[in-house]
Amino acid sequence: MDKLQDVIELLKEYHQEHIIQLLETLEPNKKEELIQQLNKIDFHQMKELYENTKREIEIKENKIEEINYLDKAKLSKEQKEEFDKLGENAIRAGEYAVVTMAGGQGTRLGHSGPKGTFKLDVYGKGKYLFEILTENLKQANEKYDVIIPWYIMTSKENNQETCEFLEKHNYFGYNKEEVHIFTQGELPLLDTNGKLLINKEKKIKEASDGNGGTYYSLRASGNLADMKEKGIKWVFIGGVDNALLKMADVTLLGMAIQKKVQIASKSIVKANPHEKVGVFCKMNGHPKVIEYAELPEKMAEERNNQGELKYGESHIMCNLYTIDAIEKISKETLMYHCALKKNSYLDESGKEVIPEEPNSYKFESFIFDAFEFFDDIAILRGKREEDFAPVKNKEGVDSPRTAKELYEKYWNKQ
Ligand code: UD1
Repeated sequence: MDKLQDVIELLKEYHQEHIIQLLETLEPNKKEELIQQLNKIDFHQMKELYENTKREIEIKENKIEEINYLDKAKLSKEQKEEFDKLGENAIRAGEYAVVTMAGGQGTRLGHSGPKGTFKLDVYGKGKYLFEILTENLKQANEKYDVIIPWYIMTSKENNQETCEFLEKHNYFGYNKEEVHIFTQGELPLLDTNGKLLINKEKKIKEASDGNGGTYYSLRASGNLADMKEKGIKWVFIGGVDNALLKMADVTLLGMAIQKKVQIASKSIVKANPHEKVGVFCKMNGHPKVIEYAELPEKMAEERNNQGELKYGESHIMCNLYTIDAIEKISKETLMYHCALKKNSYLDESGKEVIPEEPNSYKFESFIFDAFEFFDDIAILRGKREEDFAPVKNKEGVDSPRTAKELYEKYWNKQ
C-alpha cells in the first residue's frame, strides 16, 4: 500500500494526476506493472526536459569556427600508405570492433519494420541493408584475416524482430559468436502541457532515447567490458542506413592512430546548403556537429575564402573512438534534443486518440554531442560516390532509388 501511496505523492508533485486516475481503474497485477514502470521514470529529469522545450537553441553566444580536416583524395602517396599500414596492423591485431546503430524504424522510408530489414533493389535479387553491412565486414575479415566483433544496437520496439530476422538469415554468414545484440533505452513522451501519455497497454508511452544512448547502453549491457576483455582498442560506430558505409576503413583508422586522437570521423562535402545532414564545426574550441534541423540559415549558407561552404563537412555517421573515449562518454550525460511529433494515446475515458497534428515531445540524445567532451577530432574527408548512399526517404533524395544508383555504380567500378 505504501508503494502505491508513494507513487501517488510523486504523481501529485509532478502534476500527473491523470495517471493517478488510471491507477485507480487497473486490476492489481496491471497496477503493479504500472507502479514499477513509474518508479523507473526520473520525474525531475522529465520536468527539466519539458521546461527546455520552451527554450530557444542559442548558437549565437558561442564562438564558432570551421573544422580542420584531411582530404583523403589529396593525401600524399607516403601519407596514405602510412595511414593504411597503421590501420591494417591494428585490425589484424584484433584491436578493432564495430557497432551498428539499428534502433531506428523505417518510418520516413515507409517500411514497417527495423530499418536494417529493408531490401534495397540492387542487382536484380536485391539485398537487405543488414546484408550489405555484413558483406562489407566479411570482406574486411577476409582481407585482414580476423573476425571483427560486431555489436548491433536495437531498440525495445524492434529488438525481437531484428533478432528473428538475423537468425532466419543465419546472420548472412557472419560468425554468430561474434555478433552481439544489445538494446538501447527509452524515455517517456510528453504532451504539449508536459503530461505523460498513456499507451494501449495502459502503461506510460515511451520511445527510444536517440542514438546518443549508444554509449551508455554499450556499457550497461556489458558489451564495453566484453570489448575490453577482447583487447579492443578502437571502436567504429556507424548507422544502419548507408549502403556505401565502409565498416573498416584502414585510412581513417590509421589517421586516428597516427594523430593520437581519441575520436575521428569521416565526412563528405555537403551537396548543397540545405542538405539534411549534420555539419562539423568547432564550438568554443571543441569539436561539434550541428544537426540540420538546428543549423541557422545564415550559417548554412556561409562560404569561406575558397568559395566552399564554411560549414560544409557533413557528418555521415562514420565515427571512430578509442575504447577509453567510449568509456569516458558512457559515464557522461548527453544533452537531449526534442522533436514535436504525432503520437497516439488513450484519453481520460480510455479511448484511443490518433492525432492529426503533432501533439507530443520526443526526447533524443544525439551520438555526436559527445564530441564536445574532447579537445580535438581527426576528420577525413571522403567522397560521396564512395562513402555515402543513405536510405532515408521513400522517394526523391536519399531514397532507395538514389542509394541503388550509387551502390551499383560504385560496385561496377571495383
Ligand atoms: C543522421 C544524423 C545526421 C547525419 C545523417 C547522415 C543523428 C542524430 N543525425 O540523421 O547528423 O548527417 O544521419 O545520414 O545521428 N538510431 C538508433 N536509435 C535511435 C535513433 C536512431 O539506433 O533512437 C539510428 C538509426 O537506426 C540510424 C541512425 O541512428 O542508423 C540515424 O538515425 P536517424 O534518426 O534516421 O538520423 P537522420 O535524421 O537520418
